Amino acid sequence: MKNPDEPGVFEKSIEEKVIHPGGDFTAQSLVKDDYLYALAAKDPLAFWAGMAESINWSKRWEQVLDGSGAPFYRWFTGGELNASANCLDRHVLGGRKDKAALIFEGENGERVSFTYAELHKEVERLGCALRKLGVKKGDGVTIWMPMIPEGIIAMLACARIGAVHSVVFGGFSAEALKTRILDAGSKVLITADGSFRRGKKMPLKSEADRVLPECPTLEKVVIVERTALPYQRVEGRDVLYRQIMAEAGDPCPPETMKADDPLFILYSSGTTGKPKGILHGTGGYMVGVTTTFRYVFDYREDDVYWCTADIGWITGHSYIVYGPLSCGATVFIYEGAPDYPARDRFWELIEKYKVTVFYTAPTAIRSFMRWGDSLPAGRDLSSLRLLGSVGEPINPEAWLWYHEIIGGGRCPVVDTWWQTETGMIIITSLPGVTPMKPGSATRPFPGVEAGVVDEEGNPAAANQKGYLVLKSPWPAMFNTLYRDDKRYREAYWEQFPGLYFTGDGAWRDEDGYFWIMGRVDDVLNVSGHRIGTMEVESALVDHPAVAEAAVIGKSHAIKGHAIIAFVTLREGFAPGEPLLRELKDHVVKKIGALARPEQIHFASELPKTRSGKIMRRLLRDIAENRALGDTTTLMDSQVVASIREKFSEP
Ligand code: WT7
Repeated sequence: MKNPDEPGVFEKSIEEKVIHPGGDFTAQSLVKDDYLYALAAKDPLAFWAGMAESINWSKRWEQVLDGSGAPFYRWFTGGELNASANCLDRHVLGGRKDKAALIFEGENGERVSFTYAELHKEVERLGCALRKLGVKKGDGVTIWMPMIPEGIIAMLACARIGAVHSVVFGGFSAEALKTRILDAGSKVLITADGSFRRGKKMPLKSEADRVLPECPTLEKVVIVERTALPYQRVEGRDVLYRQIMAEAGDPCPPETMKADDPLFILYSSGTTGKPKGILHGTGGYMVGVTTTFRYVFDYREDDVYWCTADIGWITGHSYIVYGPLSCGATVFIYEGAPDYPARDRFWELIEKYKVTVFYTAPTAIRSFMRWGDSLPAGRDLSSLRLLGSVGEPINPEAWLWYHEIIGGGRCPVVDTWWQTETGMIIITSLPGVTPMKPGSATRPFPGVEAGVVDEEGNPAAANQKGYLVLKSPWPAMFNTLYRDDKRYREAYWEQFPGLYFTGDGAWRDEDGYFWIMGRVDDVLNVSGHRIGTMEVESALVDHPAVAEAAVIGKSHAIKGHAIIAFVTLREGFAPGEPLLRELKDHVVKKIGALARPEQIHFASELPKTRSGKIMRRLLRDIAENRALGDTTTLMDSQVVASIREKFSEP
């Protein structure tokens, strides 16, 4: 674990500003005063029990929280429900059937939209078709898709029939897809022939073809035709989405799910080379995401809500699909990149669709800043009323720019801290009431308890840097790591007994505001994407030329972190430009373009302790160009000197 006091992890040199919400926003917002905080503080479980009333249960739950198997907490035990019925059926029956549920714009400008009744019908059809293909409650279905409506329909169809979906981000490589299909033991893969990205067609199915023969549990592959890119069709296994949809059509009654029955697995990076299968349940998850969506985004019936995440990440699951649709919101999604065909694409879309609530990541905001104020100024952004940020710490400068230039100074900014594991937003402001401090995620959401502790697990004093923990369970928390209860305990609950360890460093100021410093474990945050240093190292040593590899994150103005690798080579391999390119490509092949190292440095040896552990901390010091920390445990001090010398070469 990194010491949060390590220089450069996050510089605490913020000129503190407090911005009070108020005026029109507060006058019209759902929460206008402290009552929600007060209500939850009085009795958190009673608060969550109250929130559970906004979910349709086919059988009411008996107990709010069962902690008898801690740290395997179970919420709303005895309750039964279906997530897709909560996102669709109840709106169709309850007066929203003709309201737009999903509005899609493709990169090429095409537009498709679905009312709640239409989306319901599509989901029923696909659910029915999947049942015909033999998918049953509890079966695994992997979804590897571009950002198109079919991806969302596929998630909801799985939820409807009780299949456990595992969405793999479309930017991951086929090899990464394979690892995740194998781990989940998926029976079906739903994918597309390809996707559009910056005007280019990117293959998916033909890439998957390279690894599918090595996935023995897969029985069927469903293919959405998007780009007309070619691929091999395996008779008996591969079916067209269009065709199975045309042949389906019976009603598809939702499967009855127990509150803690799994809804999905989402793989995320940890501190080992193997991604963690984060397993979420149904009841607590739906209560958590519905409640937080409603209050954090101050949901209003006429909102047009746009979250720029991909369904391949937890943000897409909780705040594109399950939270907003459970609330009956109109969700806008866009297929492409923010700079295609031009760098004002997002502002053009906000203007065109009159988006009211916009949720994006700091890395994107920093790019927008660099592209210049004249782009948003050239568009009408007056429909916006609320802005959100997620994925990494937002620097105060970017926060203020977002608030002023995009929000016109009138839109509160909710900086939402949470994780794949937490399932729901944990630390955030309530936009109508909580005074905002740019750079701080502010306060725990009502009914959630967070804290900062020192190395021994004791509460840290105000302004003291320490480790961010959660002090009590919360409804959308993950059930476990898929088929790895041991790792679940060890990774999250054993660092500080009785507390959930987030992996982040933080401090809390005298007003109780949380300032998140970023990861203190071997996990990097590159453009808001979580990547384990060990995963990149494993990918590098998988190449025949590489003997050893050490990967670290270096601060990067736009991406937050850039991936920097140090490698030693095996006998007979020579460092040089061609090998460098080959190694970068190799990482892309093993993981995906998001993990491509920014720099690779060849070294003759890596700095190690006498017991042989690589000292990444010293490599970070070298990369950040700062004084070396403690070197007393180093085996050979020459090694560091020679790496440093090479590193500073132009
Ligand atoms: C890690 C979780 C939450 C959805 C997207 C990322 C970092 C996330 C913030 C924020 C500072 C943040 C943390 C966290 N993080 N949001 N508002 N301020 N840091 O989910 O891939 O599971 O990553 O993202 O380091 O641990 P994830």
